Amino acid sequence: MTPTSIAGEAHKLERGTMSSNESLPGTSPERMPVDVFSDSEAAARAAARHLAEAIVANTATGRKTVLGLATGSTPLGVYQELIRLHREEGLSFRDVISFNLDEYYPINPAELQSYQRFMRENLFDHLDIPAKQVHVPSGTVAEADVAQHCRDYEAAIAAAGGIDIQILGIGRTGHIGFNEPGSARDSRTRLITLDRVTRADAASDFFGEENVPRRAVTMGVGTILASKKVLLLAFGEHKAPVIARAVEGPVTPSVAASFLQEHADARVLLDEAAAHELTRFKCPWTIGTVDWTPATSRRAVLWLARKLDRPILKLTDEDYNEHGMQDLLARHGNAEPINVEVFRSM
Ligand code: PGA
Repeated sequence: MTPTSIAGEAHKLERGTMSSNESLPGTSPERMPVDVFSDSEAAARAAARHLAEAIVANTATGRKTVLGLATGSTPLGVYQELIRLHREEGLSFRDVISFNLDEYYPINPAELQSYQRFMRENLFDHLDIPAKQVHVPSGTVAEADVAQHCRDYEAAIAAAGGIDIQILGIGRTGHIGFNEPGSARDSRTRLITLDRVTRADAASDFFGEENVPRRAVTMGVGTILASKKVLLLAFGEHKAPVIARAVEGPVTPSVAASFLQEHADARVLLDEAAAHELTRFKCPWTIGTVDWTPATSRRAVLWLARKLDRPILKLTDEDYNEHGMQDLLARHGNAEPINVEVFRSM
């Protein structure tokens, strides 16, 4: 797709279709591959396909496939599709080994919010994966033994040959797994303290923020980066700001997901709502040619006024020229008629 066809109001995708940043010009500020799907179901099916293809290819050559799995609402569609592939298309998980990213600490695996329970109910109970090939960090190990448990978890991943494909969600703090802001690039599986934002986001699951555990055991950023392939999924408008920071911002421990920019095979799979704050959707005129429909012009002028914190009627030719809106200016001769037109339309 060209930048024109994904820009402005025209970026709405047909159901099930996808636009990728691979054909964006060199000026794109996106620092890793991003696929935007018309809805989360299409993105989930694409992620499931990545996993299924790896499983089929490895099984055919007698190799096990090591999957890194995530919990939360984001991967549910992927798991539903994997279950469908197992039931309807005979995809077998007998040669799959799985490692989950994280678990609350402390938590009993029988509890409603336990990630062990989540994985059983939403995936493992519906597949033919042998129980001994499934790994979720423990939320019940004694505190004195947690560090050893974490070392053992890392050792088990290594003994399995490392993770082939890691599925990730992202928290509003930018966390992957429970690697909250401040997590180092080389961090490994460990006990961490949850961020306030994360605990607030988990409050409804626990019927009140005061019931959310303060800590969790999580694979580290370094553990995740050691996976051969990484798929980060994010759906919904509430994820759009952190996705923009992770994909277009600097690599920083303040946004753990930004470290994925340094991974050789990491992809981001989004629905349109989660992609909304990326430059190619938010202000595509700053990175390429756009189709200047009245709706796009209006959106661009409002964006410019907000960005410069200036009334629409005070926007100058220079403002337009400096913000990728030269084409629009050229069509109208100067800023005034555009300003007036947009102002009147409000
Ligand atoms: P969610 O959580 O999938 O429930 O949005 C994602 C995360 O916090 O990693």
